[in-house]
Amino acid sequence: MTTETDATAEFLALTDDPRRRREESTTMVEQYYTLAGDLYREGWGSPHQHFPCYSPGQSHEEAAEAHMKDLADRAGLTADSYVLDVCSGVGGPACTVAAHTGARLVGAELVADRVREARDNARARGLHGRVSFRVADAAALPFDDAAFTAAYSIQALCHLADKPRAHREAARVLQPGAVWTGYDWMRAAAAGADGIAEDICRAHALPALATLDELRQHLTAAGFTDVHVSDGRDTGDWAPNWDRLEQLVALLPSREELPPLLRLMTDGARALCAGARSGDFFIGYWHARRAEEHS
Ligand SMILES: C[S@@+](CC[C@H](N)C(=O)[O-])C[C@H]1O[C@@H](n2cnc3c(N)ncnc32)[C@H](O)[C@@H]1O
Repeated sequence: MTTETDATAEFLALTDDPRRRREESTTMVEQYYTLAGDLYREGWGSPHQHFPCYSPGQSHEEAAEAHMKDLADRAGLTADSYVLDVCSGVGGPACTVAAHTGARLVGAELVADRVREARDNARARGLHGRVSFRVADAAALPFDDAAFTAAYSIQALCHLADKPRAHREAARVLQPGAVWTGYDWMRAAAAGADGIAEDICRAHALPALATLDELRQHLTAAGFTDVHVSDGRDTGDWAPNWDRLEQLVALLPSREELPPLLRLMTDGARALCAGARSGDFFIGYWHARRAEEHS
């Protein structure tokens, strides 16, 4: 029988090895979110498990809701839209987009526990008729070609070893002309893949962080047109995320007293905050359209 201690030790060995992080990325992500699910629920205190940009005075929940509504408006989503949320987590973004636009949504999420939690969240908000969730890998989506009128992904493609493939899959399941948009964790080109980027990846079950140029290339190569990518810092204030994270870490006992997984997660939080404040790490945004004809 595998104990939780064994499972944690297995995950720590995997995430510590950059080669294994690339080659076993889906196993690593499943291990990470299975082990860290409770800590995530407590730490975020919200089904929106990503960093939003803030307007003055907003709480995390208010900022995350506003952030998702803004994304939905920019994507032109309406009650007629049929939308795919790629890497839908525990369902916060999909529920907010559905409630705001009246659209129907499907969430594709790798981790079965998180799919169950997302279904519960949708039911609690009375949205289960229009929002559904399915266990699915973003790199091999179980949907027909051209099934959706729009798709988005929020701060999750960084978990995939083969990011170009995830963009190709999004293109495949979208109708011609449909919008593909979202946010992702990025590294500054000047920062390099070692140092703080490696510290962030090791602590968050990420094979690698892409640069904005790489994101643009992935979108273009997947057959998207009207490709726009940008550094989120150009359009909003992300600093309250790092303030909040630093406050959370400060509430914990000293690093040495923490159990191994929580120690890794707090190391990761410190690396994120340091990277965000130095500019080596940031949240990137993209907005593109599926070409009218597949290349
Ligand atoms: C940081 S969470 C963000 C969740 C959600 N998008 C949100 O904003 O609340 C990243 C999510 O991506 C999921 N994920 C990672 N790799 C995936 C893959 N290959 N296919 C589907 N989901 C994946 C994780 O399980 C996790 O739920």
